[in-house]
Amino acid sequence: MPDSHNTNNNPEFGPKQSRDYKAYQEFIRCSYVNVYNKVTEQAYLEYFKERDTHHAGEPETRELAAKIMDTTPAYQLKAWSIRNLRRLKYSQPDLGIDRMMHDQSGELDPEINALISDAGEDLILNPDLDMPDYFSWVDFHQQPGGVWRDDVDGLVYDYGRRTTNPNEADPNRVYQVMWDNLPKDREYKRVLDWGTGHGGGIVYWMENHPESEGYGVDVAAPCLKLAHVRAQEARVPVKFSQQDIAAMDYENEFFDMVFHMFMFHELPQQVTPDLFKEVLRVLKPGGVFIGMEISLIPDQPAQHIMQFTDGWLNNEPYMPASIDADYPAIAKAAGFSKAKAIGANRSREAFGNTAKNTPPKATWNYYVFEK
Ligand SMILES: C[S@@+](CC[C@H](N)C(=O)[O-])C[C@H]1O[C@@H](n2cnc3c(N)ncnc32)[C@H](O)[C@@H]1O
Repeated sequence: MPDSHNTNNNPEFGPKQSRDYKAYQEFIRCSYVNVYNKVTEQAYLEYFKERDTHHAGEPETRELAAKIMDTTPAYQLKAWSIRNLRRLKYSQPDLGIDRMMHDQSGELDPEINALISDAGEDLILNPDLDMPDYFSWVDFHQQPGGVWRDDVDGLVYDYGRRTTNPNEADPNRVYQVMWDNLPKDREYKRVLDWGTGHGGGIVYWMENHPESEGYGVDVAAPCLKLAHVRAQEARVPVKFSQQDIAAMDYENEFFDMVFHMFMFHELPQQVTPDLFKEVLRVLKPGGVFIGMEISLIPDQPAQHIMQFTDGWLNNEPYMPASIDADYPAIAKAAGFSKAKAIGANRSREAFGNTAKNTPPKATWNYYVFEK
């Protein structure tokens, strides 16, 4: 894929950011990086020491690994740091992202509504759409009130994500490394971003594939409004629409590719099989459903505990069940003809893993399902 001018990294529409706000958020970001790197490494080292002193080898259960991990000061430091850094990032009264955006909503709301006023068919909103309970009940990532209530919630999400992968200079690189795993023997003309959120994925795709037709679906209107504005800024055509992915209004066999970014762990296991069937319906024969998702390192219970800890601290209640799910098996049961998980460990690149003999900070799977 050629380099992109990638205007999404320099958004035009956004809040006024004071010097204090920038300094505060940079402090939070650097603290977060430090906790994810050094404090996490230290927690593993303390865990190994404790394990080797008082236990015979690697514990057989995660419960025992969690008990050992709980005793280490570095793990305790990590846990309360992540929980509270996230709270401060969003909710500090003057400088938290959520508070700052809401303080400016008097200017930002009319501005975004003016920017979308002539969107026409490129932005179809449905104010009567019911939010699924599993979605509306949870403030994912600790974003207060979620991403779907107020017009500025899309902006909060967009600015918040830029510190989620702490060392990623380019927040759009995650899409590139995912698409590197697409089967190369077919064309991806009509493409859907499944749970598009801020729209970063489909905008980036369209910047690099102007011959494609781009679509984005999401249940949250504030995200879709912002996604449309970002597509306008990047001068790429994308059709966004507000729908529940449980029942989309696209015709059968409409798309060549449906992609998603870290969606599976935000969906309860109970709804996943039917959501896969709905994706299958809208894919052409030979179409591809590709996505990136958090995974675990087999036989390393300490790493599992660390990952579950992140899930709970970030308000991602469906993550533990998701990580253990066999998605290729679920996809095959839903009717996909081929389904595989490609493991990836990008911790050195993304998080700068330096300590010897500690597990990687992040492991991901690329899931590639074919109709
Ligand atoms: C993990 S985020 C998406 C991330 C984003 N696509 C990216 O590239 O960073 C999950 C998104 O899925 C949306 N979502 C969750 N449940 C949904 C549903 N049932 N139907 C449509 N969208 C949903 C949320 O509103 C949110 O924007």
